[in-house]
Amino acid sequence: MSAAPLHNDPVPGNHWMPFTANRAFRDAPRIIARAEGIRYWNDRGERLIDGLSGLFCTPAGHCRAEIRDAVAKQLGELDYAPPFQFGTPGPFRLAAEIAALTPDGMDRIFFSGSGSEAVETAIKIAILYHRRRGEGQRLRIIGREKGYHGVNFAGWSVGGMVRNRDMFGLGMPGVAHMRHTHIDANRFAMGQGAHGGEDLADDLQRMVDLHGGDTIAACIVEPVAGSVGCLVPPLGYLQRLREICDRHGIMLIFDEVITGFGRMGAPFAAQAFGVTPDILTMAKAITNGAQPMSAVAVAEPIHRTIVEDAPQGGIEFFHGYTWSAHPAACAAALATLRLYREEALFERARALSPRLMEHVASLREFGVVTDTRGFGMMAAVDLAPGATPGARGFQLLCRLFEAGAVLRVTNDTLILAPAFTYTEIELDELFDIVRGVMGTL
Ligand SMILES: Cc1ncc(COP(=O)(O)O)c(C=O)c1O
Repeated sequence: MSAAPLHNDPVPGNHWMPFTANRAFRDAPRIIARAEGIRYWNDRGERLIDGLSGLFCTPAGHCRAEIRDAVAKQLGELDYAPPFQFGTPGPFRLAAEIAALTPDGMDRIFFSGSGSEAVETAIKIAILYHRRRGEGQRLRIIGREKGYHGVNFAGWSVGGMVRNRDMFGLGMPGVAHMRHTHIDANRFAMGQGAHGGEDLADDLQRMVDLHGGDTIAACIVEPVAGSVGCLVPPLGYLQRLREICDRHGIMLIFDEVITGFGRMGAPFAAQAFGVTPDILTMAKAITNGAQPMSAVAVAEPIHRTIVEDAPQGGIEFFHGYTWSAHPAACAAALATLRLYREEALFERARALSPRLMEHVASLREFGVVTDTRGFGMMAAVDLAPGATPGARGFQLLCRLFEAGAVLRVTNDTLILAPAFTYTEIELDELFDIVRGVMGTL
């Protein structure tokens, strides 16, 4: 009540923005008002190029009429029904379509509303699976430094991005972290680095040796760490994690919130790297950004243990969200998957990737660049920090926006993730802007 709307103020302070320097933003707002394809327009009507697919969410390009129409039709037919003890048609069809994309055998799909919720769901599934098999002592979850698994309590606890953790105290008990995979030996390697893969993955074996393998429920990693800036797993890394998990009965969770749906040039990173987890989270591109939605895919034995082998009649898994399998989100996802198929967008991502990698590698010539990395349609560029960590990155973000490009910066790292609908000429245009701004740093 107290803050009367300031109608002349373009950004009234009532909106507390997420992961944003709120006060700096109000002094110099960056408002995106409209989108189409790979373009945005700001509130002055100036055109911008989107080099991040929204926030990894819109690989088919913005404002796709097919998705809009599907959502509108759904909202006119059935806007909402309770997802607990009732069903709507959408999620049954959608789960079957997603199961056709996930690695073989991972064909049971649980819906939630955000990446963070998918992570919480995945961790609870892992714990419950062990309990139902009489191994209730398996409660530890192993994460990794520099990992990002969302902002809810289990997610930030297993995550390893320091600023997301140090504001909030102790987090979930029973969590330990492996080392991250960003090592000097692989600097400037585009694709998978040749060094350190098995050695770094052996950290999981050290956790087993220290805590006892039979106390560990799950190991959760992003196959390619996204939010910290595209850390590609060194050769052999994911395979070795899989081996150690198998040896000790540990569930391997791949958090594919960013890497899912073609970003790695295959439906999921699991297929791109040839390693199948037990549990796999997905979100972001599932609706091409048009509706909030996420999902967890689980291997059939896990589902069987928790659901099929439970006593008849009762609720098998006391977990779910008001927005689980929302009809509009299901309609958006079904329309999105159709676009991915009909426009062969995962194949386009694979075909465009070498050009993206070439452009990113070429930025090495700027003195300020200390590393470049990438895989599929995601890449990152590290800058030497200025006087304060993050200041140069923020300067880059603001200058790029002024120059007409929307990208993400985390700390002093630039992240690129263009839509799969880019042409090579549009990619060149994006990099003309990036190079122009790099030259001013
Ligand atoms: C790997 C990973 N997990 C979880 C999340 C959290 O997703 P959300 O922001 O939708 O909660 C993200 C978000 O970027 C992510 O990249």
